Amino acid sequence: MNVGIDGIEIRTGRLKLDLPGTFAPAKGEDPGKYTKGLGLHVSALPDAYEDIVTMAANASRRLLERKNVSPADIGRIDVATESAFDNSKPVSTYVAGCLEQVFDGDFTHANKGERKFACVSGTQVLDDAFNWVRAGRSRGRAALVVATDTALYARDDPGEATQGAGAVAMLVDRDPDLVSFGDAQGIGSVDETDFLKPNQQFPSVDGKRSMQVYLARMREALQDFARNGGDIHPDTFSLVPFHTPFPGMVRKAAALGFRHSIRDTSVEDRLADQIGRQPRPEAFDDHEAYLDGIKSYTDELRQTTTYEEWYERTVEPTLDIAREVGNWYSGSVHVARTAGLKHAFETDRALTGKNLLVASYGSGAQAEIHAETVQPGWRDEIAQLNIDEQLDRRYDLTFEEYEAIHDVHNHDETTDLEPFTTPTEEFVFDGWGRMGERKYTYVE
Ligand code: CAA
Repeated sequence: MNVGIDGIEIRTGRLKLDLPGTFAPAKGEDPGKYTKGLGLHVSALPDAYEDIVTMAANASRRLLERKNVSPADIGRIDVATESAFDNSKPVSTYVAGCLEQVFDGDFTHANKGERKFACVSGTQVLDDAFNWVRAGRSRGRAALVVATDTALYARDDPGEATQGAGAVAMLVDRDPDLVSFGDAQGIGSVDETDFLKPNQQFPSVDGKRSMQVYLARMREALQDFARNGGDIHPDTFSLVPFHTPFPGMVRKAAALGFRHSIRDTSVEDRLADQIGRQPRPEAFDDHEAYLDGIKSYTDELRQTTTYEEWYERTVEPTLDIAREVGNWYSGSVHVARTAGLKHAFETDRALTGKNLLVASYGSGAQAEIHAETVQPGWRDEIAQLNIDEQLDRRYDLTFEEYEAIHDVHNHDETTDLEPFTTPTEEFVFDGWGRMGERKYTYVE
């Protein structure tokens, strides 16, 4: 059975913080840290009336309308988030409530839930939907899957450089228009304390360690994928979307992944004249010496035309949107997939029947790798995205305005602030109800 993503919609927060232009000078930092080091230009942030529910519901509304899907056609609504504000009532119930304000019918018979495993939960909800359809329990209905987050850090935390806010809504169904999922899957999962939110809004982060943990779990997932029948040869994949906390992280992961995937292939043979063969652990008595050897090899590999061309074709295009929005946690890898397909559409690449290798990651920590095959309807799907218009219409914050909006979204502060933008044809946060629930209205 051919099951995968039938449609996708992206919703960015309506404010933007210019990192090299506004944030870096206010922090006394060199703008190059952002543009060259982290590879980030802008953080997307939510206006005062936006949150994980409004962004999720706004993305979902456009998706359902565009695909002509009514509530009765949806058998499941799953939300992935690490920014939930309730330990009992799932965000998916709020999203369903919003959508019922504007669609005929209701989601009474749709199974709703919320998934948590940091950023990788955005892929776990896809996996759950895939399994549900494949198990024959969907009764011809589709799953609505949404990854939504406000990735905010405490003020002055180093993570503040990598913030972002947005939602990605996806429909999972048979005979999908966009991509179908392969069966092989690789997992790398270890109990880690690199990034966590123990009943607190902003994360506790060991930033440098979190980067090492990302790379280690990715390697384990790639090995597991290959062991389970996954083909990892670099020529197999037209695009390789990674979880993208910031593009600089992906630059590191891509080089390690490429090195691993060319081992014992004709690509390694061809490169041997230029940079030698990869060091093998058995050739070293000392593990440190092996690590030094493999690091030097990777540094040289990165400089080769073979690597540069592979990276430019398969990875670089997936970073186009991330650079302009920052980290969306659970939605981040899905933004990367979308950016890669959008770039392919705009440059007229023929992708139908071609493969993507999707590399997801969540702190705590787990990486997941699977392959997808691009479907014949992909061009029509991607042509309907309006992300460029959304990015263009964002309000550009001064540093003082940024500080104020950060306070508005800080659960420990009670700051009132006039929104910077005017909502139109969208769901907005509308205050609290008598039991502490959040309330939402659709604004014409
Ligand atoms: N010109 C060029 N490059 C520059 C520069 C300049 N003027 N100034 C700095 N740089 C480079 C640095 O050399 C560095 O690059 P390398 O890592 O290649 O050396 C890069 O810019 C970042 O600079 P710093 O290391 O000085 O930045 P920092 O100390 O402020 O911390 C961070 C960066 C650790 C990523 C921090 O932002 C952070 O903690 N972020 C949150 C955690 C995170 O995103 N971790 C990623 C893996 S975990 C994950 O993926 C899950 C998730 O979504 C959170």
